[in-house]
Amino acid sequence: MYALKVLQPETARRAAPATPPRSVRLSLTDRCDLACIYCRPHKDAGYVDERLDFEAWTTMVDGLVQAGVRRVRLTGGEPLLHRDILRVVAYLAAQRLDDLAITTNATRLEKLAKPLRDAGLRRVNVSLDSLDTARFKRMTRGGRLDVVMRGIDAALGAGFDEVKLNAVIVKGENDVEIEALVRWSWERGIVPRLLEVMAVGEGANLQDRVITTTEMRTRLDHLLVPGDPARERDRGPARYLVAREDASRKVGFISGTSDTYCKGCDRLRVASDGMLRPCLATNDGLSAADLARGGDAAAVANAVAEAWTMKPDGESFKGCTETSAAGVSMRGIGG
Ligand code: 5AD
Repeated sequence: MYALKVLQPETARRAAPATPPRSVRLSLTDRCDLACIYCRPHKDAGYVDERLDFEAWTTMVDGLVQAGVRRVRLTGGEPLLHRDILRVVAYLAAQRLDDLAITTNATRLEKLAKPLRDAGLRRVNVSLDSLDTARFKRMTRGGRLDVVMRGIDAALGAGFDEVKLNAVIVKGENDVEIEALVRWSWERGIVPRLLEVMAVGEGANLQDRVITTTEMRTRLDHLLVPGDPARERDRGPARYLVAREDASRKVGFISGTSDTYCKGCDRLRVASDGMLRPCLATNDGLSAADLARGGDAAAVANAVAEAWTMKPDGESFKGCTETSAAGVSMRGIGG
């Protein structure tokens, strides 16, 4: 048995939640070719030194599945920068999970959309905050909108079960585009989701520029059926409202700041260095890197159960409004 390295126990340890982690986000790499203003200060802000290789990831996946995980989302950094991305997707697809999805900035999607679909990827979330070339460049610190647009087109042509768009709304920047982003998405069969800036990473410095989901809704009132937005089972924290004119169109709202959604969270995160992290808003966690590198899936499953006991209860803990959130690197754990 390997020794387990405990990262930083910030929150008191509690009894493990009744259910095992069903849903996991794998941050394959903390590298990213963009540096969004709410995420990190510049493109080469510090990276982890020891990432898991493909073999270690297969053991990690086996251990997670043994521990009860049924839904996997690949994140980053930017997951499509990982050189083994297609092999990882194929390995995951062979596990017959209930869900297999990716969150990407789409800069590499033009070439990779079809191969990803062929490898068994089911759903794609694209992060896109602006339809304006200059604003996109500013918000991503140098990103090219035309490249991303071609990536999105490729995803739409590849036949995924679902393509969603994530837009983080920043006051005084892209808030003028809320309606445009929604209409643009609907026209393409994409489900738009609007996110509050969360106090994680660089977002901690932008808390005076938060637009709440309540304000976002007000700006979309003329388009949406009135009522309380509702969560969808097994589909994360977004709450949805449907369009007045067409019930098949909807908008998701993600209120990580004005209202947290920690209660009932069944998510675990695995960072690119093999750190198991039970909560987005704390740096608590333990490393399963040595276990994964050693090929011991059963030990990884035990480590997952151990990490799960560190999950905050979600009732007394307020997620991204806690001071611990500001010290978390979004790039390192993939949101
Ligand atoms: N607040 C809200 N969303 C964020 N993301 C990254 N950092 C933040 C933040 N501080 C989003 C990205 C991406 C998803 C993984 O997380 O835009 O869509």
